[in-house]
Amino acid sequence: MENGVKLTDLPSQPFGDQQPGTSGLRKKVTVFQQPGYLENFVQALFDQLHGPGQSAAGQTLVLGGDGRYYNRVAIQTLLRMAVARGYDRVLVGQGGILSTPAVSAVIRRQRASGGIILSASHNPGGPAGDFGIKYNGANGGPAPESLTSAVYQRTRSIDHYLSCDLPAVGIDQLGSQTLGQTVVEVIDPVADHAAVLRELFDFDAIRALFARGFRLRYDAMWAVGGPYARALLEGELGAPAGTVVHATPLEDFGGLHPDPNPVNAAELVACLFAADGPDMGAASDGDADRNMVLGRGFVVAPSDSLAVLAAHAHLVPGYRQGLAGVARSMPTSTAVDRVASALGIPCHETPTGWKFFGNLLDAGQVTLCGEESYGTGSNHLREKDGLWAVLFWLNLVAVTGESVEQLVRGLWRAHGRCVYSRHDYEAIPLAQAERLISELRASLPALAGQTIAGQTIAWADDFAYTDPVDGSRSERQGVRLVLADSSRVVLRLSGTGTEGATLRVYLERHEPDPARHDLPLQQALAPLAALAEAVARICHHTGRDQPDVMT
Ligand code: G1P
Ligand code: ZN
Repeated sequence: MENGVKLTDLPSQPFGDQQPGTSGLRKKVTVFQQPGYLENFVQALFDQLHGPGQSAAGQTLVLGGDGRYYNRVAIQTLLRMAVARGYDRVLVGQGGILSTPAVSAVIRRQRASGGIILSASHNPGGPAGDFGIKYNGANGGPAPESLTSAVYQRTRSIDHYLSCDLPAVGIDQLGSQTLGQTVVEVIDPVADHAAVLRELFDFDAIRALFARGFRLRYDAMWAVGGPYARALLEGELGAPAGTVVHATPLEDFGGLHPDPNPVNAAELVACLFAADGPDMGAASDGDADRNMVLGRGFVVAPSDSLAVLAAHAHLVPGYRQGLAGVARSMPTSTAVDRVASALGIPCHETPTGWKFFGNLLDAGQVTLCGEESYGTGSNHLREKDGLWAVLFWLNLVAVTGESVEQLVRGLWRAHGRCVYSRHDYEAIPLAQAERLISELRASLPALAGQTIAGQTIAWADDFAYTDPVDGSRSERQGVRLVLADSSRVVLRLSGTGTEGATLRVYLERHEPDPARHDLPLQQALAPLAALAEAVARICHHTGRDQPDVMT
């Protein structure tokens, strides 16, 4: 066949579940290592994008990953399949590296048709860890549910894939090579993303902040955020060498869990709480779309971070015109709602997962958006963006002269504090989790008006969302128990885990009284945790009387 293009049969037994979750297809590395497994998914994706067996001539594909174990193998597989499909151009990050926000930036700036991100985000990596793949469209954002479910359907029916014989393609030197009909271009992973960020923030003000001796510690968690943070913070903004730590992407993230929360980034938290610690701390996750921000001796809750950024956005060059609107995922605290109402702008509540922000951003209805799970972003891209959030905070600190803690306390003073915590119960046997949720759903109609564990439930439902732009409907997105004073308990099952099920319980209580803003978090939320237990009977179903992680 022309250019060595060949059809390879797929195993006659279909692969197990290739249904993408909250953000793409995520499985153990060993699952991805099955012969034909990745190819099956990619063939289904390309068939869905271009028509079964059809050519991708005229199209540009962006390709990169977070550098985890199996990244380099998967890149070669994808290159062979993309060349066989006849893509005009494939833009590969040097060394196979592209963070999730960088893929979004490259797609948009290079007017690509879409991009493939190889990542399991914040999940651990290495031979016994996780791997993942997700597709982003021409707007730079995650594929909508309509595409991912069509791809999933197709994964179940195809029996061969299109590939070609190629010697291993060099991806470590910048430059172009022509393979079949395709120009494979190895690109600088940082350039496009940096160009986008440069247009948004006052780099001179941030440079002056560092020149005045402001100290930041950015923990890249041995993941893909390192090269980006180094290039901008140390290379361009004058932060001292060593500001970015754990900056080299490792295939197994140093054996750690590259998820920036106070539990997994305990070392960073300890630094910020130490005598003479830095002024600000930050961390990003495996694929660098998540962020955590800390002040000296102070942890910023992601929901508060979004609200602070929204409240002060007009101080940052890229948002000087003000915000069209904001959006948050349903379980995210209502702090940003309060800011939006004071600003007189709309606040949208969407299901969990970044893909639900895409239409609102594309339609210009929303400028900033975020999730409680350490994700914040804006209309500059169609992904959450860890480094963006850190630069936003630095810009605010630089131009207001306030510390990170002062900015958050200002938010609480103006709007009260949304006291908030998420409790995760991990690796629950699937059947137990499903029984818990289905019994909970069945109990919903009778809950309104009931007093349980001393709390009176005003209303309860299972969150459903109609996209205001395309009218698509997403149901069963999380159970909400809401009290008369607007306190909330939300329960849902994770869509990103790879081992059993993870139950997430989100607790929120609004505290207007400044004298009570510093009460211990879990103590302030204990009545809501008791309500969650009484209604969902977590201990009865799972045998667990404590969550594995509280953030
Ligand atoms: C989790 C977070 C969600 C985020 C997703 C991808 O999904 O809760 O906010 O969008 O990771 O980073 P979950 O595991 O809860 O389905
Ligand atoms: Zn991530």
